[in-house]
Amino acid sequence: MSTEPVTVVARRVLDDRGDGAVRLGAGRAHGKAILLGEHAVVYGAPALAVPVPQLTAVAKARRVGGDGPDEISFAIAGLESPEVTSLPTDGLQHLVTEFRQRAAVTEPMRVDVLVDCAIPQGRGLGSSAACARAAVLALADAFDRRLDAGTVFDLVQTSENVAHGRASGIDALATGATAPLIFRNGVGRELPVAMAGSARLSDPAGFDAVLVIADSGVSGSTRDAVELLRGAFERSPRTRDEFVSRVTRLTEAAAHDLLQGRVADFGARLTENHRLLRDVGVSTDRIDRMVDAAVAAGSPGAKISGGGLGGCMIALAGDRRESAAVVRGVRQAGAVRTWVVPMGRFAGHDD
Ligand code: PMV
Repeated sequence: MSTEPVTVVARRVLDDRGDGAVRLGAGRAHGKAILLGEHAVVYGAPALAVPVPQLTAVAKARRVGGDGPDEISFAIAGLESPEVTSLPTDGLQHLVTEFRQRAAVTEPMRVDVLVDCAIPQGRGLGSSAACARAAVLALADAFDRRLDAGTVFDLVQTSENVAHGRASGIDALATGATAPLIFRNGVGRELPVAMAGSARLSDPAGFDAVLVIADSGVSGSTRDAVELLRGAFERSPRTRDEFVSRVTRLTEAAAHDLLQGRVADFGARLTENHRLLRDVGVSTDRIDRMVDAAVAAGSPGAKISGGGLGGCMIALAGDRRESAAVVRGVRQAGAVRTWVVPMGRFAGHDD
């Protein structure tokens, strides 16, 4: 559980008055980082993302049975920026309405949901989608509903569309994925990427690298960044077409590199994708400096990740020693915290 202070958004603890059984439900999800393809994915390009298993959102739902009007409350713990607490909460309220319909809940919804979110907000790490996914799974558990993957995705998207405007869906999927995934036009496919030394998976060579994620300490707004590009692309459809086709080529090639264990080639494509994102105006000076510092410290490639206008940078690192040098370099360039993330499959959260 997060040790960060609890921000109570709207909380009423249900009084069960002895008129119904109490049922508990639990759900979990994790953060994500986009490797290539952000923004272009909104216009039909593919994007590659990895789950970030060490950043989790855990939800608990406490449902009281019996008759009575609906009483639904949410508490979000672990949020850092009080000014944006209303965004996921608005989304979560929509999600409850949708949940009632999709899960065919006819009984009164008397439920408290507590989401403990260790994923920093506004950093392109999937905080809002992970909170929504954890909440959906906890509600389903508390109401004894088994939701298929498509329904869970749709419900998370309901919340994401409120939080971010029209979301591509990559966050909704990646926050429940257990391996790197490629996503295009609403459809995602997990890639059988083996970490080096893993005999279990199909590629014996493995992908011999880890990912360093570095927080610039500046909150970005995905909604603002998507709007910025929408305006620019409306003024210049040619810029949009070039951006989308270049990113498409890079992302498709990078997916092959990932499967073939070609770390250096994959890294070069990351840095090239960064240049394209910087040129359309969604990077920041600090993140540009962090990208340069990562490459100077020996990283095969680095880029901004997610919506931008702040947020995080990602850098590839060949091994633990290289990742330590990259971490030192990006911290000197202004990163306020870092995470080192595996690039292969990890155990799921579906328990
Ligand atoms: O949530 P973020 O900041 O990682 O951004 C998601 C990626 C975008 O392509 C910028 C938006 C989207 O809906 O795909």
